[in-house]
Amino acid sequence: MPVRPPHSPTDFAAYYQLRYQVLRQPWQQPPGSERADDDDHPATIHALFTAPDGQVAGVARLHPAAPGQAQVRYMAVDPTYQGQGVGRQLLDYLEQAARQLGLTECVLHARESAVAFYQRQGYHLVASSHTLFGSIPHFLMRKEL
Ligand SMILES: CC(C)(COP(=O)(O)OP(=O)(O)OC[C@H]1O[C@@H](n2cnc3c(N)ncnc32)[C@H](O)[C@@H]1OP(=O)(O)O)[C@@H](O)C(=O)NCCC(=O)NCCS
Repeated sequence: MPVRPPHSPTDFAAYYQLRYQVLRQPWQQPPGSERADDDDHPATIHALFTAPDGQVAGVARLHPAAPGQAQVRYMAVDPTYQGQGVGRQLLDYLEQAARQLGLTECVLHARESAVAFYQRQGYHLVASSHTLFGSIPHFLMRKEL
C-alpha cells in the first residue's frame, strides 16, 4: 500500500509543501497558512501517498471531531497524479483508521470542485457551508463508516 503516515522531518516537509502547493498557493496565501493548530495533536492522523518514483503524490488528514465522528481535512493530490486513484486510496486509508478507532461516521467540508469526487467515495451532501478566500464554496458531506 503506497499510503502511510509521514515519519521523518523530510516526510513532514514534503507533506506540508504539497498541502500548500495545492490548497493555498493558487490563492496567493502565505507559506504557513497551510498549517492547522491541531496538526500536531496526537489524535490527528496524517496520510502520505508515495508514487513508485518516490514522489509524494498526495496527502490528507483525519481527526476525531465529535463522539463517534471523524473529519477529513486537507486532502491534496499533486496535479500530475490526479485522476489516478491517489485520492481514493488516501480516503480509504483514513476511513479504515477511523473504523479502527471505533468511529462510525466521517464528515468533511468539500470544495465545490471536489463534491463529485467525494460522492463517488460514498459521501452524501448535507448542506452548503463556508466560502474560503471569498471565492471557494464548500459543502458539508457525510458518510457512514
Ligand atoms: C479532489 C482530489 C482530492 C481527488 O483526488 P484524485 O486522486 O484526483 O482522485 P481519484 O483519481 O482517486 O478519483 C477517484 C474517482 O473519483 C473521480 N473523480 C476524481 N476527481 C473528481 C472530480 N473533481 N469530479 C468528479 N469525479 C472525480 C475519478 O474519476 C475516479 O472515478 P472512478 O471511481 O470511476 O475511477 C484531487 O483531485 C485534488 O487534490 N484536487 C485539488 C484539491 C482539492 O480540491 N482537494 C479537496 C479539497 S476538499
